[in-house]
Amino acid sequence: MPELTINGETHVLEVPVGTTLADGLRDELGLTGTKVACAEGHCGACTVLLAGVPVYSCITLVHMVGEREVTTIEGLRAHPLIDAFVRADALQCGFCTPGQIVSASALVEDNPSPSSEEIRHAMAGNLCRCGTYPKIEEAISTWQD
Ligand code: FES
Ligand code: FES
Repeated sequence: MPELTINGETHVLEVPVGTTLADGLRDELGLTGTKVACAEGHCGACTVLLAGVPVYSCITLVHMVGEREVTTIEGLRAHPLIDAFVRADALQCGFCTPGQIVSASALVEDNPSPSSEEIRHAMAGNLCRCGTYPKIEEAISTWQD
């Protein structure tokens, strides 16, 4: 059975081969902050970090994770981006928000003061049906304030 490091803790996931990481996180571990919308790798709602790199957990299999550390939105509770999204009112329904914040955390880790163009490029894989893109950009631009 795969042993995964998730938000700094080790978990053994007793799931069948073919189980997605999103399902493993949500159904086996109760980490329901990771959302599933399209379940086909199109929208980014399910984004988590694998060794610091944003991936779609709905098309990533538990058995393919290996040694790479998984970071979910629950592992980013203390990240200043959380407050920045609240300050900028960067959500409406909020369904896309965990994935947005996970992707944004990878961006600002590499580039703490991204330009507007860099933000749009880095966040292109995260869709928002509510159209909060300008506010998301504001939140990422002001996360260090
Ligand atoms: S739910 Fe995974 S990309 Fe849409
Ligand atoms: S806030 Fe509703 S989908 Fe983004």
